[in-house]
Amino acid sequence: MAQSWTPQSWADKPIRQVPTYPDQAALGRVLTQLKSHPPLVFAGEARSLMASLGQVAEGKAFLLQGGDCAESFAEFHPDNIRDTFRVLLQMAVVLTFAAGVPVVKVGRIAGQFAKPRSDDNETINGVTLPSYRGDNINGGEFTPEARIPDPQRLLQANAQSAATLNLLRAFAQGGYADLHNVHRWMLGFIAGSPAGEQYKELAQRISETLEFMDAIGINSTSVPQLRGTDFYTSHEALHLDYETAMTRVDSTTGDWYDTSAHMLWIGDRTRQPDGAHIEYMRGIKNPIGLKCGPSLDPEELVRLIDTLNPQNIPGRLTLIARFGADKVADKLPPLIRAVKREGKKVVWSSDPMHGNTIKLQSGYKTRPVDRVLEEVRTFFAVHRAEGTHAGGVHFEMTGQDVTECLGGAQGLKEVDLQARYQTACDPRLNASQALELAFLLAQGIRDERIKDANLAASA
Ligand code: PEP
Ligand code: CO
Repeated sequence: MAQSWTPQSWADKPIRQVPTYPDQAALGRVLTQLKSHPPLVFAGEARSLMASLGQVAEGKAFLLQGGDCAESFAEFHPDNIRDTFRVLLQMAVVLTFAAGVPVVKVGRIAGQFAKPRSDDNETINGVTLPSYRGDNINGGEFTPEARIPDPQRLLQANAQSAATLNLLRAFAQGGYADLHNVHRWMLGFIAGSPAGEQYKELAQRISETLEFMDAIGINSTSVPQLRGTDFYTSHEALHLDYETAMTRVDSTTGDWYDTSAHMLWIGDRTRQPDGAHIEYMRGIKNPIGLKCGPSLDPEELVRLIDTLNPQNIPGRLTLIARFGADKVADKLPPLIRAVKREGKKVVWSSDPMHGNTIKLQSGYKTRPVDRVLEEVRTFFAVHRAEGTHAGGVHFEMTGQDVTECLGGAQGLKEVDLQARYQTACDPRLNASQALELAFLLAQGIRDERIKDANLAASA
């Protein structure tokens, strides 16, 4: 029988990736304060997301999950929030219109601060300091003072998350996301790119469809779905003290929810079956994600699913495959087969970013867009071969015109990276690279549908 769970029961388990705060009493005071802060999301919203993800698990919808690798205090600006939101809207429109599939939109935003690190320390020119762990923990500047974990940062990150979510809610429901604005979501700098051209054509077709619908009385006033959209938030549940402080009982059901975001995920470095992060996540009722990297074997995955989703509820668990373009064809099929054999209901999503990071001689960490797209193509091909649904994608992007990932239709080269390399952590797709990804996804979804239709016809 499963051991009893409390929001703190993880504290008895081995834990990885925790910062060491020099002043524990100060941390305690901050956590006490956070416990009295209002929830950022409501349990009912997390349940709506779970129901939508249930549709994804059944093969009837597609999950689009993306945003920053790490939000930062320096990049906190309404324009950045708007630009990220509108690229996600554009991508969703591409998928809905070009592939005819409902899209569940989840941002890596309004709480995506804490970062797992491969090394506890960083050495530059012979000087070794503790690694940067995200703006809610310490500072990125390479000085001993900046790298000391400061609990006040948790309060600042919480306030930034609340303000970000407030604006996102306004964008999603206040008119900005009205489908009639489909042309206006076009960002200036991608208008001339190949993906931008393709988007303009699609937006034109949508506008014509809307005009026709308007003529027969279907418009934003009569159909609320045209006026607004559902948008959800997510981040990695890495900083368990913070997540625990935001964990509350839902008065409607009596269940525990992590109210810091609608969806939380477990990183590839913190998914030990007997570890603290799995213990915490099994008890909250939000929809959750689990990163699946090359070191995960099928039996361990089945064990993790039993722990995280013992009732096999569709939509509760999203498996986020992040193998790298060169490994996905070998590593993914055994996991899919084990999940299928055990009759587990999951959403399969592809993170084509984290297995495709390379470090250049110049020192830049980058990701070749070709490899990112190749991993997605293989992900779809593997699912077609296994007869399962390629349910979603999980990616790092920004609405800004950054130069962080190589290639894409813009043909960014090594020498171009320095122009606008701005990330606080991993290299992100820029807006036009993200839009390219959306068109590739639309193709993958259409191919899956054609295969399903052919199977149905020959049955
Ligand atoms: C991330 O998604 O930011 C991340 C660190 O991923 P992973 O745990 O898969 O390495
Ligand atoms: Co990252």
